[in-house]
Amino acid sequence: MTSPDTEPRAPRPLRVAVVGATGAVGQEMRRLLVARDVPLEGEPVFLASERSAGKRLPWLDGEVEVQAISEEAFDGVDVALFSAGGTRSKQWAPVAASRGAVVVDNSSAFRMDDQVPLVVSEVNPEAIANRPKGIIANPNCTTMVLMVAAKPLHDAFGLTEMVATSYQAAGGAGMSGITELLEQATKLGADGDQLRFAGAQAEAGVEPATFSKAIAFNVLAHCGSFTDERYTDEEWKLVNESRKILKQPALRVSPTCVRVPVVVGHAIAARLTFAAPVARDAAMEALAAAPGLVVEDGTGLDGEPLAYPTPLASAGRDDVLVGRVREDLADPYSLNLWVVGDNLLKGAALNTVQLAELVAAEG
Ligand code: A2P
Repeated sequence: MTSPDTEPRAPRPLRVAVVGATGAVGQEMRRLLVARDVPLEGEPVFLASERSAGKRLPWLDGEVEVQAISEEAFDGVDVALFSAGGTRSKQWAPVAASRGAVVVDNSSAFRMDDQVPLVVSEVNPEAIANRPKGIIANPNCTTMVLMVAAKPLHDAFGLTEMVATSYQAAGGAGMSGITELLEQATKLGADGDQLRFAGAQAEAGVEPATFSKAIAFNVLAHCGSFTDERYTDEEWKLVNESRKILKQPALRVSPTCVRVPVVVGHAIAARLTFAAPVARDAAMEALAAAPGLVVEDGTGLDGEPLAYPTPLASAGRDDVLVGRVREDLADPYSLNLWVVGDNLLKGAALNTVQLAELVAAEG
């Protein structure tokens, strides 16, 4: 007979607040709450800045009015999904938690706090149980996507080192990043000769705001803000968050984060080194069995279909995609691979909603 303790508990319907409901990630969270049929209690609370107060956002067959964020707005809320930037999280997440809500925070504000679990739903879901501050942190979008592929390999072979270069979409910087890319693409795209023969002039001819240089028709070796040791904060997130999620404080990580003119979809070229020699076949087996991960890997040679994931084809997909899985040419302990995922979905809103589902599943 099954003991009552091992029977899955009925999910608890949640009263949910979305903080940053009008933003790029907030919009996806609202859509996913419906699409995934998250068990909800009553209407959600949509919060944003004063600018958006009174605006009506679609919800099921009707609309819900956006409120300016306030202490009272969190009353009666079970789970508050935050994606309104680190400053807002620092100020309001403790308020929401003190009013009894479990906060799932998409910003970097609490990720490295020892008392805040940093959780990828397929990688370390058990970590959500230990949340003394009532806050659970959602990892950085690039780290999240990479971890979905790195974890099954780590479990199989023992990860010791990662050299990771990201190709990050403009949408990782929010709506303003997407707008900046599209506007520049229209402007610069109208003069192909300038792009071809006078690129510096084209670059100087736009006024970047979200990014430090022209993002359209360009590749920027600069994601986030420069900080210690000449690395950016985005690069440090890859180092520190990977160590925390995999519980490998000594993991060696060499990051380079690059911004590319893609609307949505982050890619990472990674060289992973393990404690034991690793064969491609064994790696493919581990990757094929991993939750939330789809393998697209083929050379087009010897009757094998040509297959590898692209950021464009990942946009709008829940799964993380992996391809180009190769044994390293020089080191039998290392593999090279290409990991791709929608930075607004698995990289942000989807994982946040999955963490809310895990809270609901606590019953
Ligand atoms: P608003 O639309 O009212 O500015 P994105 O990352 O796509 O730019 O979205 C940022 C989100 O954070 C938006 O929903 C935005 O609301 C919200 N936000 C920005 N500033 C504040 C603030 N001071 N208080 C509450 N929400 C804010």
